Formats: sequence, structure tokens, C-alpha cells
Amino acid sequence: MATKPYPRIVTPLPGPKARTILELDRRFVSPSYTRSYPMVAVRGRGMAVEDPDGNVFLDFAAGIAVCATGHCHPEVVKAIREASGELIHMSGTDFYYPAQTDLAQKLSEIVPGKGEKKVFFTNSGTEAIEAALKLARHATGRSGFVAFYGAFHGRSFGSLSLTASKATQRRGFFPMLPGAVHAPYGNCYRCAINLEYPGCDVACVKFIEDEIFGKTLPPEDCAAVVVEPIQGEGGYVVPPESWLPRLRELCTRHGILLVADEVQSGMGRTGKMLAIEHTGVVPDVVCLAKGIASGLPLGAMVAPAALMNWKSGAHASTFGGNPVACRAALATISLLEGSLVSNARERGEYLLGRLRTMALSHRSIGDVRGRGLMIGVEIVKDKSTRERAPEARDRIVERAFEKGLLVLGSGKNTVRLCPPLVLDQDDCDVALSILEETISEVESGSALGATSGR
Ligand SMILES: Cc1ncc(COP(=O)(O)O)c(C=O)c1O
Repeated sequence: MATKPYPRIVTPLPGPKARTILELDRRFVSPSYTRSYPMVAVRGRGMAVEDPDGNVFLDFAAGIAVCATGHCHPEVVKAIREASGELIHMSGTDFYYPAQTDLAQKLSEIVPGKGEKKVFFTNSGTEAIEAALKLARHATGRSGFVAFYGAFHGRSFGSLSLTASKATQRRGFFPMLPGAVHAPYGNCYRCAINLEYPGCDVACVKFIEDEIFGKTLPPEDCAAVVVEPIQGEGGYVVPPESWLPRLRELCTRHGILLVADEVQSGMGRTGKMLAIEHTGVVPDVVCLAKGIASGLPLGAMVAPAALMNWKSGAHASTFGGNPVACRAALATISLLEGSLVSNARERGEYLLGRLRTMALSHRSIGDVRGRGLMIGVEIVKDKSTRERAPEARDRIVERAFEKGLLVLGSGKNTVRLCPPLVLDQDDCDVALSILEETISEVESGSALGATSGR
């Protein structure tokens, strides 16, 4: 089946050279990072990443859903080389340059909604969310926010106040931003209200109206509802069809802004440029980052021109919208529009179909869900009780690494597949076969923890 020179594992993992780097990391790098296995990368091309010992991995993690065009796509590398030979930094806060205006124009075309839009540039997802929160307060004169259980919006204080995917991300950091409240996400596999869709009539949106707006946060004090169209770090959860339209209707009725956090789900990953396009909903504000520049640090907050009417000095960033990152983004978008968004859709359908079939013969696969190349495989102890199996999930992720496949966990017990959008049929088949082998081994108890060195 495999016709590629990867994956190829030639040493025990981690290999001797990788161990040296892991030791330096242990001594000098913040222990707050969340590494789940000892993968040390030195170079990447397309779907493959090589470690210092010559082991080559098939990458279904894409640097946490970032390397949309694969590793070091020649067009992106060319754009970065050319741009960095022309102008590395100028600061859009105080000066003008064409890379930024070109990208702003392109993003305002990509983001749904009629009429002129404006773009605020950042270096990361969390900064894009911070910008959205500030704009929402500024534009509405209100201070409250609604976000969702399971959400991940970032780790700076505003976005962290909306983040609710793991207590460890918030422990020790209180107080959060006042006025940020959480509601149940449209997660039908684990309905917080114990109802079934569609008979529930989307009771989780009604919960916001009745319980939150009715009892704790009056809607006139709510500036924005901030939502991931597909929940990322919370477990790759796809809400039911009418959930986002109902949320949109609720926001419109109360004059509340709907902010779509497309940091993980955007830039073609789901088979459309933005995940929200699958729902027909037009949000007021869209936040982008991760895949936007194929790995260069860049984020963006996009809103209608009429909304983004704050005055000079209200918000700015020294590095946000750096010229090299903007050129990388323009090259990335051109590749996405060329063929990668449709590739994501087609390969994603294939992967989802095969994984759903796989679930029929594996007792630990509780749920398979996703759109395009944003796919979650939820690992459970028992399909009927849906009891979570976080240890088994961790073993699957670790064992896949040992076999040369890079995947990440998401949520408490979900394996996430978020490969670069350049993958082909072979890549899909190799990943599926490693994953199935791994799941079988973990189910039978034969997958012993071999990886060490962390
Ligand atoms: C949906 C979403 N929003 C925001 C962020 C924060 O992005 P960053 O890590 O670039 O600050 C993330 C990161 O995982 C994310 O998945």
C-alpha cells in the first residue's frame, strides 16, 4: 500500500540525538507546555517530518492544525524568501506596506457577509480573540460575554476567561475577566441537558435565553457570544445543524455580536474556507490564526467596517501583520483556493467514511465526527455508557507515534486528526492502517508503554 519513503522508524524512540534535545528542553524550557510524546522535529516536507536521528513521521497533527499547506511548501517558502529579502518589519501600527493591505483586502473578501470589512492583524489566535473582545465592548458599550463549556479561545486573560476546556488551563490564574459566563455547547454525543436532537428543539440555545439571560447576565449587558463553529480543543465537536442558526437568531434579537472563533476550524480545514460557511450563518466578527500563514505567526480579526469604527490608538500591535507573515498568508490562501480546500473536503469524506466503518468493529471507538480534515475519534470504555477512556486515548496517541504517525489528543478522550491539507490517498490509507492497528493493540492490552525519555 505505502509508496512513500515515510513513515520510517529507524531507532528506538526517542533516538540518541533526540534525547540530547529533550534533556536541554527539560533544563531550559518552561514545563507548562503540553507535550504528549517525545517528538523532536528538525525538518519537514509536505506530509513528512524528520527527527534528528533520521526517523520520518507521517504528520496528522500539522503543528496543531497550522501547517495547512504542508511543511515548507515551495510556494510558501518562495514567498517568505522574497518577502524577507525586501522588508522584514515596519510595524503596521505606525506605517503602511502593501503586504498588509493586500492581505486585508483578500481576507475581507473571504470572510462571509456583504459590505465592506476591515481587518485587525495579530500574531496569534489569542490576540485575535482579545481584539474581538475589545471591539465588542467598544462597539456595543456592553461588557459581558457568553462562551461555551469545552471552548478553547487562548491563554491570555480575556481569551482564558472564555476558555473552558480543561480546569488546568485556569487553575491558579483567578480572577478571570468579570462578566464572562459559559453555556453548554451543542454536543449531541454528550448532551449536557440529557435530551436528544432534534426532539430537544435545541434546548441548549434556549438555556442561554432562559437561564443565562433570564437569571445571571441580562442580554442588554452582553456584548458578544463567542463560539467555535466546530469545537477544537474541547474534543473536535460538531454541533447539530440548527445550533449555529439558532445562536445567530438569539444574538440578533438582543443586539449581541456573534464572534466566530475560526482559529482552528478556518483556512480551508473543514472543506470550506471557514467552518461557519457550512451553516449559512454570517457572524459579526471572525477570528483567524493557525493555518492562515502556513506556520508563520499571524492572526486576524475581521469585522464589518461599520462595526470596526474605533479610533486611532484604540488598539494596535507592534508585530501583528508583519510583512513576511502577510506574504506567507497570501501564498497560503492562493494554494488553498487553488485545490487544497477541495482536497480537504474529499480526503476528509474518505477518512470519515473509513473511520465510521472502523468504529463498527472496535469497541473503544465511541464516536467519529468532523468535517473535512478536522476529525475527532472519541475513545470510550463502553459504547453503551459512553464512559470516557482517557488512558486508552493517550496510549493510542503514543503508540501511533511509535509507529511513525503523529496525531494529537483533543478534549479528555478524543484522538484528533488534523493533517496538512496536501495529503493524498496513500497518506490517508497509511494513517488509517496505523491507527487501526494501534487501536486494536490498545484494546487487546498488548500496547505497552515503550516511549520514554520525557
Ligand atoms: C479555537 C482556538 N482559538 C484560539 C486559540 C489560541 O490560539 P494561539 O495558541 O495562537 O494563541 C486556539 C489554539 O489552539 C484555538 O484552537
